[in-house]
Amino acid sequence: MKISIDHLTQIYRNGNKAINDVSLEIEDGMFGLLGPNGAGKSTLMKILVTLLKPTRGKVLINGEDLQKNRRKVRAVLGYLPQDFRFFAKLRTWEFLEYSARLAGMRNKAVRNDEVERLLEEVGLFDVRDRKANKLSGGMKRRLGIAQALIGDPKIVIVDEPTTGLDPDERIRFRNLLSKMTEKEMIIILSTHIVGDISSSCNNMALLDQGKLVFNGSPDALVEQARGHVFKMNLSNLEFESVKEKFNVISTIPSVDGWDVQVVADEIKDYPAIEVEPNLEHAYVYFVEYVLNKQM
Ligand SMILES: Nc1ncnc2c1ncn2[C@@H]1O[C@H](COP(=O)(O)OP(=O)(O)O)[C@@H](O)[C@H]1O
Ligand SMILES: [Mg+2]
Repeated sequence: MKISIDHLTQIYRNGNKAINDVSLEIEDGMFGLLGPNGAGKSTLMKILVTLLKPTRGKVLINGEDLQKNRRKVRAVLGYLPQDFRFFAKLRTWEFLEYSARLAGMRNKAVRNDEVERLLEEVGLFDVRDRKANKLSGGMKRRLGIAQALIGDPKIVIVDEPTTGLDPDERIRFRNLLSKMTEKEMIIILSTHIVGDISSSCNNMALLDQGKLVFNGSPDALVEQARGHVFKMNLSNLEFESVKEKFNVISTIPSVDGWDVQVVADEIKDYPAIEVEPNLEHAYVYFVEYVLNKQM
């Protein structure tokens, strides 16, 4: 599978330019779409799932125009919207069976097999008889994923699936998604949380105010921050002035003051030790220094 996004622009009726001339190629594997709230992630995803017709530009799926092949594309697509809700009255398995019917699975036996397979896959088999709205937050999200996986889609698009989950569920959810990437398929995961990206995505894009500001591997983003992350031990007084000058990313009290990590272009006036950057550091560095310089 290959998605080619070609000079895509989305301007809403009220004039909001939610996507601003974005070009991007996405191939098999897990693709992370990172950006703060309002960056345009949901808008881009709605275009990809043909819910929204872009103002300008086009999307090609395996070389074919998305807008001209909507039915065909929808048949290979799974989507978990950001505001996913389900009918309160249905039991977990009933909801999936209902979704399978909506997805066009007419044969009852085939449908039942599919529901069972999905319940197993997302770890909800034991709670299949529970009312869907009585599931925990994490379970609901997994049910949402199961719904998106009906009929073995080749492209799966999940919009902020980890928002509001506790750390355990977040890890579980991530593992579920990365297990799926063993198949030949594209998974696009949007998030405003950097930690969702690092472990599982081979490629990522960074959106900011509708613009594509980075596209590459998470490692490539991390490399940009090399030499710009420092740690230092500071007294209370020093800490106050460092806070003014640099982007402090972590603070731990120490015996005689504070162990502080900062992101900065360079540090001159303090005894600072360089630290191996991670994706969280890189995101801060990129947004605060690289982006600001470009603009
Ligand atoms: N239906 C809409 N009409 C007008 N503006 C919208 C609409 N949906 C989203 N927007 C605006 O478009 C921008 C991008 O929104 P969105 O795609 O939801 O971003 P994200 O998912 O990254 O938070 C925001 O400024 C948002 O307010
Ligand atoms: Mg969104």
